[in-house]
Amino acid sequence: MLFDTHAHYYDRAFDADRDEVLSALPGSGVGLVLCPGCDLPTSREAIALAERYPHVYAAAGVHPEDALNLPENWLTELERLTRHPKVKAIGEIGLDYYWKEVPRDLQKEVFRAQLTLATQLNLPVIVHDREAHGDCLAIVQDFPQVRGVFHCYSGSAEDAKQLIKWGWHLSFTGTITFKNARKAPEVIQAVPLERLMVETDAPYMAPTPYRGKRCDSRYVYRMAETIAEIKGLPVEEVVRITTENGKRLFAIN
Ligand code: NI
Repeated sequence: MLFDTHAHYYDRAFDADRDEVLSALPGSGVGLVLCPGCDLPTSREAIALAERYPHVYAAAGVHPEDALNLPENWLTELERLTRHPKVKAIGEIGLDYYWKEVPRDLQKEVFRAQLTLATQLNLPVIVHDREAHGDCLAIVQDFPQVRGVFHCYSGSAEDAKQLIKWGWHLSFTGTITFKNARKAPEVIQAVPLERLMVETDAPYMAPTPYRGKRCDSRYVYRMAETIAEIKGLPVEEVVRITTENGKRLFAIN
């Protein structure tokens, strides 16, 4: 059974057939899905989906792209959302320096505030790090009690080893299946399977050979296959261990 640890099913791309897609997942081998929010409204939508489907769990958080114009009470409201029994993490949160509209200082402030909340609530976090590896590493180092996952990991093998040492997990999307993927195979080789997870980041980044199509969790087996090829392990083992890793990190029984 596969665990897609990162998929955005509230996205408008699923408006026409959301129920069809989500209902069919357990029958196609995907027994668990974690749906992270990007701001307060999408965190609420993720929770609503988790209430509706037993195999769907949620995370609540403010993505760096959405850090502008937050309501004054956003952190209190976020804390309230995390008290829902199906909210298993704070996410997605982090830094995105590709996205220039949101000043870096504000991104850092919102990231730190949510890491503080994660420490207080003892919840894992889902980190989005795009072109901000140095600052992301420096900031999480300031929160040694916080554990979680760097999703769609795009950093170096050296940084990956450091994160593993600090107790973090890494997860990989369809980008690892692309022919031009260079860094990811090196990272996957360098990191123990016990710290890896698979994800789609649906509706984005469909893996080869579905590239360009809308992505959904059925495709997550391609990420497990790719990790199995890189590590020279049976795919069943990669499926089993990555699912166990996700269940352990997010405290799902
Ligand atoms: Ni995402």
